[in-house]
Amino acid sequence: MHGIGGWTDAQIINAIQHGVDHAGNHLYPAFPYASYNKAELQDLVDLVAFWRTLPVSDVPSQPHEVGLPFSIRRAVGLWKLMFASDDFVIQGDLTAEQTRGRYLVEALGHCAECHTPRNMLGGLSRDRWLSGAPNPSGEGRIPNITPGALTWSEGEIAEYLKSGFTPEFDTAGGSMAEVVKNTGQLSDADRAAIAAYLKIVLEVATAPAAP
Ligand code: HEC
Repeated sequence: MHGIGGWTDAQIINAIQHGVDHAGNHLYPAFPYASYNKAELQDLVDLVAFWRTLPVSDVPSQPHEVGLPFSIRRAVGLWKLMFASDDFVIQGDLTAEQTRGRYLVEALGHCAECHTPRNMLGGLSRDRWLSGAPNPSGEGRIPNITPGALTWSEGEIAEYLKSGFTPEFDTAGGSMAEVVKNTGQLSDADRAAIAAYLKIVLEVATAPAAP
């Protein structure tokens, strides 16, 4: 058995929340545990239970290539101390719906891993939360979805997350098409919660494109 199939549930959940593998090694943050560390234990237990229903794969785990500073695995421990905060970014008096949306966006949906710019060490810039970022694939930019830039109504945002259609009847493209395959399976209430949360995110102007 390859991959994580032979790990215990506790080992898998520890990896998801703390980025540590079954032998205690730090995992690279290409695995977005700095988002998943905010997930609730019961949701992770359910997730692992679902994975256990999937057929066993005989493909060996692939080695991965990561750039500096992460080619030194031990540097990842320091990185975690600096960037893997388990506090939610948006704080304050939230309604139940906004709180649910915050959980879906900041933890399970890990939306910020794409939509938030990173500092030089690859940590998410919490003060530029969801304000857009260079596309890791190298092409174009991932859009700013803070309220000033994303002017769609909550209903329009929810529809986009359901069907992928924008109010202009474009369709979600690039890596967002994959995200919509998932958000499309959420309940209407959860999509509405995400939209409600996006409306209370701090408005940040789109950064000018790098020269
Ligand atoms: C894997 C990277 C990735 C993740 C994760 C991601 N997005 Fe996106 N998102 C994109 C890209 C790329 C686009 C641009 C799509 C296009 O050009 O059609 C986009 C577009 C959007 C748009 C439309 C913005 C516009 O002005 O057209 C919204 C709204 C959005 N994302 C919300 C979310 C939410 C909410 C989540 C979390 C549930 C999320 N995204 C997670 C990559 C991502």
